[in-house]
Parts: sequence; structure tokens; C-alpha cells
Amino acid sequence: MEVKVLGVPTDFGANRRGVDMGPSAIRYANLVSSLEDMDLVVDDLGDIRVPVINNEANKEEAKFLSQVIDVCQELALIVSKIAKQDKLPVILGGDHSITIGSVAGMAQVKEMGLIWFDAHGDFNTLKTSESGNIHGMPLATIVGRGVKELVECGGITPKVKEKNTVIVGVRDLDKEERQLLKESEVTVFTMDDIDRLGIYKVMSQAIRIIGSQTAGVHISFDLDVLDPLEAPGVGTPVKGGLTYREAHLALEMIAEANIVASLDLVEVNPILDQGNQTAELAVELIASALGKRIL
Ligand code: ARG
Ligand code: MN
Ligand code: MN
Ligand code: MN
Repeated sequence: MEVKVLGVPTDFGANRRGVDMGPSAIRYANLVSSLEDMDLVVDDLGDIRVPVINNEANKEEAKFLSQVIDVCQELALIVSKIAKQDKLPVILGGDHSITIGSVAGMAQVKEMGLIWFDAHGDFNTLKTSESGNIHGMPLATIVGRGVKELVECGGITPKVKEKNTVIVGVRDLDKEERQLLKESEVTVFTMDDIDRLGIYKVMSQAIRIIGSQTAGVHISFDLDVLDPLEAPGVGTPVKGGLTYREAHLALEMIAEANIVASLDLVEVNPILDQGNQTAELAVELIASALGKRIL
């Protein structure tokens, strides 16, 4: 399998907080050589150009809306080209708004399912958001809810059907976001479900739900799904997250099911990290998602 790595160093979706350094930190943690050691063919395309912003966000709209749209359009274009060549895009964020672009690009090529690993729902619309930050809105956007220009970004609406979408590990929802998610057709496995059922059963169900009815699955992995003890270098940590072992098993199961069409890893914030621990973890997790096994 041939892997194309692409960095998207945004932070304005999270209202500027340092996640723009995520791609560098993940490369510094030896992403490319780790994947090459698994006999994958890896081509690092470098970073997409991202605007530098010096002004404050416009209060009337989702913060830095036009910049997020521009980056996501560009990203969608590149990702769709990679997918058309039957290669596997691995996208490094950046804040979670970039997944709108990743998934738009994939959705141009095939009917996609989506597994969203996150402490948060990222299911806000502009109406329900308490922060105005677009990184709290990408999942709602992808399934067709919220600001029209964002929903239509990349040309396909919705990019993924709600019934083909699964969230894993969520434990922090805003009040109205929670209501919206409950009323949606998205399948949600909360931290509480993981405690009760175990990650093995949760992932088996997640894979069964979407694996069979789509042509490929996008894995969107927000590092804050892990417990902050394992992944301190994230912008919006929430305690009570996945353990190191649960995260690895989840991704190993996804690799084994042979459903991964594309992958993104987002919200690594090196400024808040201990050493480069979170980026190093990100590299290990990407390896698991792409088939690395102990034996
Ligand atoms: N729910 C909060 C908001 O909408 C936090 C979102 C955090 N999202 C993330 N991708 N880390 O602002
Ligand atoms: Mn999150
Ligand atoms: Mn919150
Ligand atoms: Mn997120």
C-alpha cells in the first residue's frame, strides 16, 4: 500500500492555540521512517499553505470561516487526487476543522463511512456553539448541518450520511450540541459505553455498522480522545479518556477489518506537551491503524 502524508498546519479553527505545530511535531517523531519500517511505501507531500492571520475573528460568523473554507477546499482537491490514484492519504493537523476538507475529498471519489475518535462531539452548528470555534463543528458540517458555505465546502453535501457515522470516546458535549446529537442518526459510543462494554465490543459494533454499507472509511482521530495522562499535548483536554492500550486496540481492529480509506490525526499541541510525547503517540497510533501488529 502506498501512503501519502500531508500536513495541514491550521490553528484558527481552534481560535489560534498552537496546534499549527502538530505536523512538525509528528514528523519529528519519525512518522515516515516508522511507516517505512512496516514496508509501506511512504511519500511525504509536505504541508498545505495556510494563511497567517493577524486580525481578530469576525463576531457575526463562525470564527475564521473564510480561511477555514479556503484551506478545506484546497485539502479536498489534493485528497481527492490521492484517492483517485488508489493511495491512502494520511493527513496531519492542525485543528479538527480540517477534517471537513479531508472527508470532502474522499467523498468526491467514493461513498464514505466515518469513525470519529474524540472527547468531544464536534457536532455544534453556529447556532448551538458556545465558542464560535469551527473545530467544534466539523462533524455536524460533514453530515450536512450548519453554516451553508461550510456544509457545501468541497462540493458534496452531505459528505457522509449520519447512519454511516460513528463517534467513539465522547465525554464532553455542550448543552445544545448534546440535544442535536441525540436527535441525529449518528451512532455514539460514549466513554460510559466503553467502560460498560469494553473497547473490543464497541469497536466490533462500530466496524459492523459502517464497514458493510460503505466503499471505504475515513478515520478521524482527535488526540484528545485519549486520557490527558497519555496525551497531554492537546488544546482541549478532558479527563477520563481512552487508555494507551484501548486506543491501540481500537486502531488495530480497524486495520484488521481492512476498511481504512483515509486517516487524519488532529489537535496535537506541542506547546502544551510533555516533551514530544503526544506526537510520538500519534505516530504509534498511525502505525497501528495501518496494520502494525506485535507479532
Ligand atoms: N465543544 C467545544 C466547542 O464547540 C469544544 C470543541 C473541541 N473540539 C476539538 N476538535 N478539540 O468549542
Ligand atoms: Mn476533541
Ligand atoms: Mn465543552
Ligand atoms: Mn475534535
